[in-house]
Amino acid sequence: MKKFILFCITILYLLGFVSCKNTPKEEIPAEENTPIENEQKPNQEAPISSNKKVLIAYFSLAENMVNEVDAEASASMSLPGDVTRLAYYIQKYTDGDIFSIHTIKKYPNDFQAVVDENHSESTNPKLEKKVENLDQYDTIFIGYPVWATNVPRAIRTFLEENNLSKKTVVPFCSHNGYGAGSSYSTIKSLSGANTLDGFAILGTQTASAQNSINEWLEKIGIKKATSIVPIELVIGDIILNANLNNTAVAKEFLKLLPQSMRLSRYGDREYYGSIQGSISVEGERKRNFTKGEISYCPANNTFAIWFDKEEQMLGMDIIKIGEITSDYNVLKTLESGIEVLVRKTN
Ligand SMILES: Cc1cc2nc3c(=O)[nH]c(=O)nc-3n(C[C@H](O)[C@H](O)[C@H](O)COP(=O)(O)O)c2cc1C
Repeated sequence: MKKFILFCITILYLLGFVSCKNTPKEEIPAEENTPIENEQKPNQEAPISSNKKVLIAYFSLAENMVNEVDAEASASMSLPGDVTRLAYYIQKYTDGDIFSIHTIKKYPNDFQAVVDENHSESTNPKLEKKVENLDQYDTIFIGYPVWATNVPRAIRTFLEENNLSKKTVVPFCSHNGYGAGSSYSTIKSLSGANTLDGFAILGTQTASAQNSINEWLEKIGIKKATSIVPIELVIGDIILNANLNNTAVAKEFLKLLPQSMRLSRYGDREYYGSIQGSISVEGERKRNFTKGEISYCPANNTFAIWFDKEEQMLGMDIIKIGEITSDYNVLKTLESGIEVLVRKTN
């Protein structure tokens, strides 16, 4: 009976999820509440001094199914998964590295079959790859969907394979209404680490969770990543101030400045245009954006400024390289085909 109720709630949730994600495929991208449910004591200090020291490891069913991109086959196959979204919100705040936990054996496309498999799993699943150079991180976020009021077994494997006992571990999860369950205690005891207060949210609310995530991170003492290089976007007599972040892609972009670009307007949400020169390094790819963000699209070698409609998901990957720090609402009023000079601030 309990199983049946959980199944019904999940199906209802999944239906809602599909409808809110039914945004049309994007042609050109230039690149994403509930109260926090705490199980642990508030807060120990989070020793984050550099952006390079944060790892966001997460497991999401949507990325671990037999056919993960066939949204027709199962609503729960739609990408991104609920936990994926949360992971990228944390990444946006911390500029940490993302690690998606993939099991070698994929889960079925049918929800009830996954529930059954989770119940019958007697060993922890093997994972596809390991975290490279774990030593470089001192804070590890661990994200997961709550399964049977606890962590999925893939998280147990991850905690077995990675010795986190000297790290600061921060759990975050999404669920269908039953909360974090025993998952925080499991992570604490399996990792043997200093753990900070976790974040738990309904799966249906993950699409608009950036603010809640930011508030939570601030509350538990995680420092916001600092942007390093101030730049200006000069559009006629308008000057927008912005910061480039300290990622490899942003640093490559910086080498190409100053440069003028002709930017087209698209979907009442972005200005984008080709970059003169190329960027050969990689960065954290994502399919969501926030207002004020500046990004690079590797597929099209384009630069973009995002000013509205941040609830939309993109059909192509973008990499965040910075954000506008002044009022960018003026962009809403401009035409397509603007000339923009991008240069370092003196
Ligand atoms: C096998 C399985 C077990 C689940 N068990 C629970 C549960 O105990 N409590 C709950 O609230 N939600 C439960 N859910 C729902 C998921 O936690 C929820 O849909 C989550 O947001 C999915 O995130 P994802 O899309 O990133 O995988 C379960 C889902 C599955 C597939």
